[in-house]
Amino acid sequence: MLNIGVLVSGGGTNLQALIDAQNEGIIKSGKIKVVISNKEDAYALERAKNNNIDGVFIKKDKDFEKNLIKILEEYKIDLIVLAGFLVILSEDFVRKYDKKIINIHPSLIPSFCGDGFYGLKVHEAALSRGVKLTGATTHFVNEITDGGEIIMQKAVEIKDGDTPEFLQKRVMEEAEWKILPLSVEKVCKQMI
Ligand code: GAR
Repeated sequence: MLNIGVLVSGGGTNLQALIDAQNEGIIKSGKIKVVISNKEDAYALERAKNNNIDGVFIKKDKDFEKNLIKILEEYKIDLIVLAGFLVILSEDFVRKYDKKIINIHPSLIPSFCGDGFYGLKVHEAALSRGVKLTGATTHFVNEITDGGEIIMQKAVEIKDGDTPEFLQKRVMEEAEWKILPLSVEKVCKQMI
């Protein structure tokens, strides 16, 4: 069993999908040991607490990554999952954890990704370009934002009258909450 650390910044619906998958036995090769947030009021920390998982807030100051590494080492974390974590990690950090960090991005990479594309902005960009299909992608994290090796992708249809909020919800329900747990299990299994 690998030790999983989940990094979050917001509501944590992807974290919830991971917790549910763990409870349902979809994730069986690893266990979530700690949830770390750069936002003190992130609802994701509540979700951790409600599920008896340790939650840690780390302030985004100059020692952020130093403090992050300390916590990851304390909990002996083998795999880091970025689940709606909106901080860009340094090159040094991602090199240290090469092939040990997974991210979920709410589009079909290489569309609508990279610096500045996060959260609702991704869906706004997809709608204004007029694409008819979007989706979600899980990938390993390297020094290029959203540029690491792709693990899984799932397409989602865009419908007439979609708003960024409607589209975000559909992409989460039909793609993100499915491929993130499956990707975590796949990578844990490979790592064992
Ligand atoms: C999710 O849609 C996730 O894919 C996105 O932020 C949202 C977080 O929601 N991540 C990015 O845009 C990363 N570039 P959640 O807190 O409810 O999981």
